Amino acid sequence: MALTDLIVFCYLSGEIEAVPAGRFTHDSATGVGSFQYGRRYLERRNALPLDYVALPLGVTPQPVAINRGLYGAFRDASPDYWGRLVMASRMKCAPEALTEIDYLGRANATRVGNLDFRESVDQPEPTLMPPQFQNIADLIDAALMLEQGGIIDERIRLLLEQGSSLGGGRPKCTVQLDGQLWLAKFPSRYDSINIPAVEYATMKLAGMCGLNVPDIRLVSVGPHDVFLIQRFDRVSELSAACWSRRGFMSSLSLAEWDERDRDRWSYTTVAEKIRRCSISPAADLRELYKRIAFNITVRNTDDHPRNHGFLMEREGVSLSPLYDVVPSLTHSGVGTEFYLAMTLGKEGRLAQVDNLCSSASAFGLSQTEGRNIAAEIHKKVMDEWRDVCIASGLSSNDVQMLEPSFVR
Ligand SMILES: Nc1ncnc2c1ncn2[C@@H]1O[C@H](COP(=O)(O)OP(=O)(O)OP(=O)(O)O)[C@@H](O)[C@H]1O
Ligand SMILES: [Mg+2]
Repeated sequence: MALTDLIVFCYLSGEIEAVPAGRFTHDSATGVGSFQYGRRYLERRNALPLDYVALPLGVTPQPVAINRGLYGAFRDASPDYWGRLVMASRMKCAPEALTEIDYLGRANATRVGNLDFRESVDQPEPTLMPPQFQNIADLIDAALMLEQGGIIDERIRLLLEQGSSLGGGRPKCTVQLDGQLWLAKFPSRYDSINIPAVEYATMKLAGMCGLNVPDIRLVSVGPHDVFLIQRFDRVSELSAACWSRRGFMSSLSLAEWDERDRDRWSYTTVAEKIRRCSISPAADLRELYKRIAFNITVRNTDDHPRNHGFLMEREGVSLSPLYDVVPSLTHSGVGTEFYLAMTLGKEGRLAQVDNLCSSASAFGLSQTEGRNIAAEIHKKVMDEWRDVCIASGLSSNDVQMLEPSFVR
């Protein structure tokens, strides 16, 4: 039976047990959801808004009809293609057979952010016990097998599921390593080159360009490489087995867009939201501008609004550290014009520095500043990309395949 009523719990700052925040009611017939904060939650001195834009504290929440009736931060806390595939494997059904509410209610404690969704206020705290890194070889094999529709050992499947409630399409699992939580991104059977190493190299380059990159690692496991990125929404508390959580919203949620409404996605709208909601707007605007310039330089065309995140506090939001930046592969000779996933300037989504500079003022920058930032990033990437790729263990064939993404 599809669930229609869920109690939303929130992990308040520094706390490792969640408190009930209110009731979410979802009508699957109309695709409309509505939420009401509980009185006791609102009375808490340290209450946090569950969604900084759609569910501010002290305002009666409006029903939501976009994104199949899920508030933005709720949608972010639900798995996507990968997590759904893993969850459906337990139910022995196709992912399409489960509803949005099934996924929301059944995602586990490794979901992004500080929310949890339970059937009743008495439902026990879900255990936050993602697999240990030592299990990684089994997890990769199981993930590859699952992608092929194969049967996997039930013990490993459970471990994989315990770490698979984050969003995104690629095979992945949250793991524990050195007392921290990491998102481990695996190879996929659909990869034509070593994507974990490409993601690692690209994030290394981003760090060299001064972008805010979390701790990252690349580890070899038998014949596979795995990309590890530290979870920025979890804070290790007291002992290695406890983590407190930070609220998370994607830019899709901050701008209250529907995930199917691509025509409205725009960086300048995100910039406007940053001006209104960020704790440090000038720094966030500059960082976002640099990320766009970097996306142009490395040809990352998968920069959709769920690939930009914000951490949420009571006072406002702040741009999260960078994640999911990977060059899109192309062939030399097919033309140098390409498009980002969101509008960046007067020429729409056209991935060109001139186009980005046309909206420099939206990011609090002069034309000259905007142009200089883009030029510095371009130079750094052009000087370093080949060496960084080689140092990341990419084969000469993979480096050659990447060349048209960098050199235009
Ligand atoms: N370091 C991190 N800490 C916390 N949450 C993260 C981190 N990196 C990613 N996330 C969350 O996990 C989701 C999935 O991660 P990511 O975007 O890297 O996966 P993906 O499968 O490559 O995504 P896509 O489907 O966009 O290609 C993100 O949308 C974000 O909500
Ligand atoms: Mg992503």
